[in-house]
Amino acid sequence: MRLDKFLSNQGFGSRSQVQKLIKKGFVKVNDEIVKDPSYHIDPMKDKVELEDEEILYKENHYFMLNKPAGYITATEDEEYPTVLDLFSDLPIASKLFPVGRLDIDTEGLLILTTDGQFGHRLSHPKWNIEKEYYAIVEGDISNIDFSESENKGIYLKKEKYQTKPFKVKVLNTSKDKSEILITLTEGKYHIVKRIMQELGYPVLYLKRIRIGNLKLDEDLLPGEFRELTEKEIKDLKKLIKMND
Ligand code: URA
Repeated sequence: MRLDKFLSNQGFGSRSQVQKLIKKGFVKVNDEIVKDPSYHIDPMKDKVELEDEEILYKENHYFMLNKPAGYITATEDEEYPTVLDLFSDLPIASKLFPVGRLDIDTEGLLILTTDGQFGHRLSHPKWNIEKEYYAIVEGDISNIDFSESENKGIYLKKEKYQTKPFKVKVLNTSKDKSEILITLTEGKYHIVKRIMQELGYPVLYLKRIRIGNLKLDEDLLPGEFRELTEKEIKDLKKLIKMND
């Protein structure tokens, strides 16, 4: 791989930005300064340093985003800003794609990655990966018995669809609204809103807080993102049998 391509792919700037760094002599390959951006390296074997800091090769990138309301989960759209717009400063932004989908008005945990197999598997229903949401719903939910939905799910009359089992924990109730945690293993379009609508408690606010064992980092404000740690990636890969 060309040295400039390698540095750009690893997130150190656009091709022309990293070419400048290389020409200025900031980059070493196997302890020797290399000033030729077209110099070829083997990312698995060669040691590359930028300003004397070794760059550890990453084949893929994995991020968690605290999705803000008002952004759609797509790579491009003519009408609305997309979650990818939040990553536009990153040189690898064009290679990222979102895993699964949150509605335009839903906030919270969204994974974005460059790893096609990982993204594909993680969003496949066969793994039954839990997704947990915090929701504010209309009305006082305290008298509802959710034990049946935990075993059988519920039947959505309008959609003629039996959901998979799901769990609800009531956090707070008042006459006008209730706060709940709802955990499901399916990712169908508008699924939480449809379930709560069917039960007679329309969703007023929705935020995803967990996917499998990955919790939304509470330090991330809406619109902020961070890379997943090696451990977080490994734990998610374990769920989808991708561990080598
Ligand atoms: N269920 C919904 O209704 N909306 C989402 O964004 C995610 C799950």
